Amino acid sequence: MTTAKRQLHLGAFLQGVGHHLAAWRHPDVVPSGAVRIEHFKNLARIAEAAKFDAVFIADNLGLAPVPPEIQTKAALAHYFDPLLLLSALAGETQRIGLVATVSSTYLPPYHLARKFATLDQISGGRSGWNLVTSGTDFEAHNFGLDQQLTHATRYERAREYVDVVKGLWNSWEDEPYLFDKAGARFFDPAKLHRVAHQGKHFAVHGALQTERPVQGYPVLVQAGSSDDGQDLAAATAELVFTAQQTVEEARAFYSSLKGRLAQHGRSPDALKVLPGISPVIGRSEQEAQEKYEQLQSLIDPAVGLGLLSAFLGGFDFSRYPLDGPLPELPQTEGWQSRQELFVALARRDQLSIRQLYERIASARGHLTVVGTPQSIADQMEHWFTTGAADGFNVLAPTFPHGLSDFAELVIPELQRRGLFRTEYTGRTLREHLGLPRPAHPAQPKSSSQNGRQPSTAKREQLSII
Ligand SMILES: Cc1cc2nc3c(=O)[nH]c(=O)nc-3n(C[C@H](O)[C@H](O)[C@H](O)COP(=O)(O)O)c2cc1C
Repeated sequence: MTTAKRQLHLGAFLQGVGHHLAAWRHPDVVPSGAVRIEHFKNLARIAEAAKFDAVFIADNLGLAPVPPEIQTKAALAHYFDPLLLLSALAGETQRIGLVATVSSTYLPPYHLARKFATLDQISGGRSGWNLVTSGTDFEAHNFGLDQQLTHATRYERAREYVDVVKGLWNSWEDEPYLFDKAGARFFDPAKLHRVAHQGKHFAVHGALQTERPVQGYPVLVQAGSSDDGQDLAAATAELVFTAQQTVEEARAFYSSLKGRLAQHGRSPDALKVLPGISPVIGRSEQEAQEKYEQLQSLIDPAVGLGLLSAFLGGFDFSRYPLDGPLPELPQTEGWQSRQELFVALARRDQLSIRQLYERIASARGHLTVVGTPQSIADQMEHWFTTGAADGFNVLAPTFPHGLSDFAELVIPELQRRGLFRTEYTGRTLREHLGLPRPAHPAQPKSSSQNGRQPSTAKREQLSII
């Protein structure tokens, strides 16, 4: 018996008109795309044609409090609401997964469960929820708080939050509707299970008015990499996004995270790890390098420093020379793993403050690779086959060209190597990722198609009665 070759999973991380800090000023980029739905529809179509597992939309819940003269020079000021954006993209696409960030810190779990159940229904089982806990005070200020909750508290709440949300997704067993006109029974009451949750952070007593998601649960994604973040992921996540700079660091993270799964009775395969990669692609090494330098030359120093500071809890660099070393930084209640990554990068490569913001301008600490399709595929293959990654979240430096270059040049190279699908074989995001559909706790596996989603035929039959 032959077993299928393990293949990469790829996410297309869509953000504005590119992940590079200066993308919007690039001559090939139309900056108004950042605020136009047509732009995102176009990107989703490109990603689907290239057979990406999913598109991913990130989110923040506020504008960073950088001085206005810097803010006007940066393009990250605009975010559509990710769930509404994905609802629109669901109608534009048929197969690609749709993953959105929603913070567990600021939205009551009932709202989140219902919105994702709806997105999963309207997309035919393609949704994924990237649970983040948020990491800044400026977001807290939009929700009646003077400062954000501590890192530990946010993660503790997140753990309980996931339990509540899963309970709500299980409000209904699969196929609860009878639509029995003659018997006057719209649904089978035995298939309704109300949540009775009284916990430390949340109290929820009720049920969703939305059918169980097509996938059972939307795919659970997590993007924190600190110790607390890894513990949360090991307990709950099925897909993990992470920023890693070197293959050694990525391997250490991969084995640390996968090593925690057994404590939760989970197999290493139950969770896929996708580090970020930002590819600058040329038909020759020289062309790629020129493309990279062109983008780098557009970085405004004030914006670069603002980006660095924003990630470091608003650290004030004004007392330090830009060409001097990175000072000692206090640990913050913000994005701890990213802060550690920046410090490690600066120390390892002996970077000045200026060199550090220049390095992170391309993808905020995600790996940047500059090269030909072959050399980029070589690096991806190396990470994939040596225990550093199950795939990658692709952060194109510019949109749409950075994404279409990846689709037209790198993906065929990966396909030639047998490392990436040439056609979708599944319909749901879970199927693309090779993840099982969670059975309803009250439905033994045998009565819910061995944990697979209810058959399309049955669903169609129900909808036309
Ligand atoms: C690919 C990727 C995407 C992320 N997207 C978001 C996001 O949309 N919103 C957000 O607040 N944080 C986002 N984060 C940040 C994480 O949620 C987390 O706060 C950060 O990685 C620090 O994690 P830690 O505090 O566990 O170290 C993202 C992280 C990664 C690696």
